[in-house]
Amino acid sequence: MSGDNNSDPSAPYFNSIGTPTEVAGESINFTVVANDPNGMNLTLSFDGNLGPNLNPFTAGASFDTFSGNFTWATDVNDAGTYSVRFIATNNAVPPQSSHVDVTIRVLSLTEVGQTLYIMHCQNCHGANGAGGSASLVQCSTEISIREALGLVQGVGGVSAMSGIAGQMDSPTSDIQAIAYFLQNVNPTPNFCGNN
Ligand code: HEC
Repeated sequence: MSGDNNSDPSAPYFNSIGTPTEVAGESINFTVVANDPNGMNLTLSFDGNLGPNLNPFTAGASFDTFSGNFTWATDVNDAGTYSVRFIATNNAVPPQSSHVDVTIRVLSLTEVGQTLYIMHCQNCHGANGAGGSASLVQCSTEISIREALGLVQGVGGVSAMSGIAGQMDSPTSDIQAIAYFLQNVNPTPNFCGNN
């Protein structure tokens, strides 16, 4: 019930939703559960037009006021911070209502890739892939990173890099994000021939 605006003990209240966070391109799904202390019937409604954060509904999200299901298949361009207010109203006379404001974060692949690059690669390959004790890796592709990490059968990995893949939470998507970062970090147009 954290975040409810109405502290009246007889007002509806919400189960905690937290801060849903996903990488752009992934789906965000959660269920809004509202309760009434006196067992009254509740009606859910919503408002995405809160500002200054973005409105998830104009970006393609939907909310089912009967089931309480919020669903949004984000696309790669949806990175940003969004807000939505969920409102629960009971059928008391007069009706009582509460609302909870939820922040939804959609992370850009570049942001995710940068965090992972700093964690796993920067020590040797320098800031933004520009090179350090090891060569520059700007523009590296997913497959070249997989090879260097020793994840491609028949290709000997770089011995200095052995063990890194084992420290990643999910190597496939982590490497994808790192490659995306390395291909898009250089501000010079078309530096990697990809844009
Ligand atoms: C402990 C140091 C170290 C770390 C950490 C490290 N590397 Fe390397 N990497 C090397 C060395 C050494 C080479 C061999 C070539 C060289 O000397 O630069 C190499 C080679 C590569 C190559 C092949 C480059 C080429 O020119 O063929 C790629 C791609 C690469 N690394 C990407 C990464 C990525 C992405 C990460 C993070 C996931 C990473 N490396 C982490 C040391 C490291």
